[in-house]
Amino acid sequence: MTPVWFMRQAGRSLPEYRQARGSIGMLEACARPELVTEITLQPLRRYDVDAAILFSDIVVPLRAVGVDVEIKPDVGPVVGQPLRSAADLARLRPLEPDDVPYITAAVRELVAWLGPTPLIGFAGAPFTLASYLIEGGPSKNHERTKAMMYGEPALWHQLLDALADIAIGFLSAQVAAGASAIQLFDSWVGVVGPDDYRELVGPHTSKIFAALEPTRVPRIHFGVGTGELLGLLGEAGADVVGVDWRIGLDEASRRIGAGKAVQGNLDPAVLLAPWDVIESRAREVLRRGAAAGGGHIFNLGHGVLPGTDPGVLSRLVDLVHSASARA
Ligand code: CP3
Repeated sequence: MTPVWFMRQAGRSLPEYRQARGSIGMLEACARPELVTEITLQPLRRYDVDAAILFSDIVVPLRAVGVDVEIKPDVGPVVGQPLRSAADLARLRPLEPDDVPYITAAVRELVAWLGPTPLIGFAGAPFTLASYLIEGGPSKNHERTKAMMYGEPALWHQLLDALADIAIGFLSAQVAAGASAIQLFDSWVGVVGPDDYRELVGPHTSKIFAALEPTRVPRIHFGVGTGELLGLLGEAGADVVGVDWRIGLDEASRRIGAGKAVQGNLDPAVLLAPWDVIESRAREVLRRGAAAGGGHIFNLGHGVLPGTDPGVLSRLVDLVHSASARA
């Protein structure tokens, strides 16, 4: 049977999530272990998914080391003082498990609740975190980020190295507390071309996967719009590469290379179409995933959209399980 879980399976698509959050700010919610535990478990009460993903955010570790970041509703992460100079770099320091006691407490509690169901821990990758820090918020063209990357490569490498250390600290704390797999989110890395990825981004991401290697937990590497980067992502060191909907999983797997599993890649917007469309698209993802050869974890190509009907996700999980059991 093909395993299935969804990025953003917890969150605004669930009425019980909106109720649990109430008027509590996103980062405040992430710092309350009992709320983190409750929200992480909510989708597992509805769906027969094969994994839970910790309810948190990629900017939580930045906040934990003292960065003045907030998450604004319907906007995303916003940084009070964007990071633009060598002096600003001093604001970053490595993350210790003691910096995130609410994370380790929630992970321990969750692992006890979940029994055999895996809990996926996660972190943001250096490029994607750097973009939020440098731009000061979400960005379409990542202009200032690229201006530093091209114009001040020494500063850029120092920044990405510091962000890699923070990700290593955050992921290691989750694994030590019992997380049984990790996913590194490099959501916006698709805006970088292959030559620049190889030189300016990849080495820092690889450092994270290498640091996690001794823990033996499966490592997943996800980005959006990465079609032309898949070969390099395959070399970066993860065990599984997450793929968005812009490329078929069979072709993605050829680009990633032998020995790696693929994860994905139904367009989250397909879930807004009638069920017969969803069903045929999901079956096509399964067909191509099976053709990929290195193993397939069914997921969407990016997170669940807030307007998605939870009943449709429930049905999709059952379809993935029954169709792949028969195959
Ligand atoms: O997948 C899960 O269910 C786990 C929870 C999770 C969240 N953020 C919760 C969240 C995960 C894995 C993340 C990672 C994250 N955060 C990423 C990488 C994943 C991706 O989508 O590419 C990124 C880029 C961020 C930054 C971020 N945080 C954005 C873009 C937003 C959305 C802004 C908005 O309101 O539209 C957030 C806020 C956020 N993180 C929410 C949730 C459930 C919404 C907050 C709310 O409920 O109001």
